[in-house]
Amino acid sequence: MKRFAAAAAAAVGTGVLAACATPPTGTSEPATSTDTPVAAPTASGGAAPDTPTPSVGAEPTAPAWPTVSAETDELGDPLTADQAINSYNNFYEFTFSKEGVAQLAKDFQTHPWSIEVGGLVTNPRTLDLADLLAYSMQERIYRMRCVEAWSMVIPWIGFPLAKLLAEVEPTEEAQYVRFETLYDPEQMPNQRGGTFPFPYVEGLRLDEAMHDLTILAMGLYGKPLTPQTGAPIRLVVPWKYGFKSIKSIVKIDLVKEMPETTWSSVTPSEYGFYANVNPNVPHPRWSQATERRIGESGRRKTLLFNGYEDEVASLYEGMDLKVWF
Ligand code: MTE
Repeated sequence: MKRFAAAAAAAVGTGVLAACATPPTGTSEPATSTDTPVAAPTASGGAAPDTPTPSVGAEPTAPAWPTVSAETDELGDPLTADQAINSYNNFYEFTFSKEGVAQLAKDFQTHPWSIEVGGLVTNPRTLDLADLLAYSMQERIYRMRCVEAWSMVIPWIGFPLAKLLAEVEPTEEAQYVRFETLYDPEQMPNQRGGTFPFPYVEGLRLDEAMHDLTILAMGLYGKPLTPQTGAPIRLVVPWKYGFKSIKSIVKIDLVKEMPETTWSSVTPSEYGFYANVNPNVPHPRWSQATERRIGESGRRKTLLFNGYEDEVASLYEGMDLKVWF
């Protein structure tokens, strides 16, 4: 069993914008300071138990999640520094500047919070933070590859989306899952005016959403998500470009037709619905063959499906990945 799975079992509008706004050689890559790795937490040295359910009141306290169980991903590559993960962000609701998100989002209210799950389901539900934190949390160390050709290795804490979907019981008709981020222009400055279509919307085919690698993350590096990383809850789909991993989700709907998503509606020629990481399908404006791992110098080869080919290639059998990009 590969280590991301082992860890899981053991643990607890515009033409100028891009989904990850600049091309890979752009100047907005992190400054040297954010590139410098800080010491990763010490490995816990063994299997961590399922995390206890934290007690959650009106203002939830930080859950007692375990610190990370490994210092590398299953390919042996080191985790990206916590500080880099938290200071180099794409969250367009706040700003198009990666280095500006953390400061602008610092007072973002992430409690109380709830997610409405509905559409083509037998048991629609509204889950508040306590309901979400009650899921058995697992650690998943995943690579995240931005379409802009930079990447990180992130120790997420979360739970399989499949668990939540099974509870709401999608009907026979349901074929896709549509996700929506909070729309709150008072708190999210970039939602005031402008040309970018908010709320941010993403989608998955139902079998992609039910895949065990697909999680709803509520933490990373053993701590709750910060506003800039998508608090209190975000999607993580590690074999797809980062823009599919929608942040600060308030709504999940099971639907029949492929949903219109933010990036595929803003620039359909550049961003498809599937957005599977693929070194053989270049972005119209840059190659996807290589990437820059944050914290490293030089470039490394991009892996098909971001290195999760064994787990997910069967989902796309018979599909031309150049057409369904
Ligand atoms: N979700 C929302 N709601 N708004 C966004 O702008 N950006 C996406 C994705 N999720 C985005 C979002 C993009 S382009 C990327 S690469 C990842 O979040 C970045 O996640 P990170 O900032 O935690 O690295």
